[in-house]
Amino acid sequence: MRLSQVPEVGSHIVKMFVILIVFACLTAACSGGGLPPDATGQQVYGVFCASCHGEDLSGGFGPALGVGSNAADMTDEFYRFTIEHGLGRMPSYGSSLTDVQVDRVVAYLREAQASKGEG
Ligand code: HEC
Repeated sequence: MRLSQVPEVGSHIVKMFVILIVFACLTAACSGGGLPPDATGQQVYGVFCASCHGEDLSGGFGPALGVGSNAADMTDEFYRFTIEHGLGRMPSYGSSLTDVQVDRVVAYLREAQASKGEG
């Protein structure tokens, strides 16, 4: 009797683990591109933009976005449109970012452009 009970307990624990892993994936890693819903503009930039525009906004595959760049003279509306619909070789992020995240990343760029002595 006891010997036959051990594997049953074992398989029950395995099932619990599978359920826990699926649950953890649904609630955390598998939503919102890995970003928490309240991610800051800087976090959004680091995950979605820095690879092309540079960690320090100095550009790379994409143009510079920091202090003194051409982009610093462009409107918030143009930024939002560019992020949501893409531009040239830049992909669109309208379906990966929420409105709040778009607002925050635009605000982050404006703050960075306003800070003197960098870039
Ligand atoms: C795959 C590379 C890539 C990624 C990722 C990317 N961009 Fe771009 N971005 C570009 C390129 C290339 C351009 C220039 C497009 C053109 O004029 O053809 C551009 C243009 C822009 C512009 C207009 C500025 C200008 O001088 O043309 C803004 C603003 C901008 N990107 C913001 C962002 C933001 C914010 C993110 C993150 C949400 C982001 N980009 C992610 C490649 C990228």
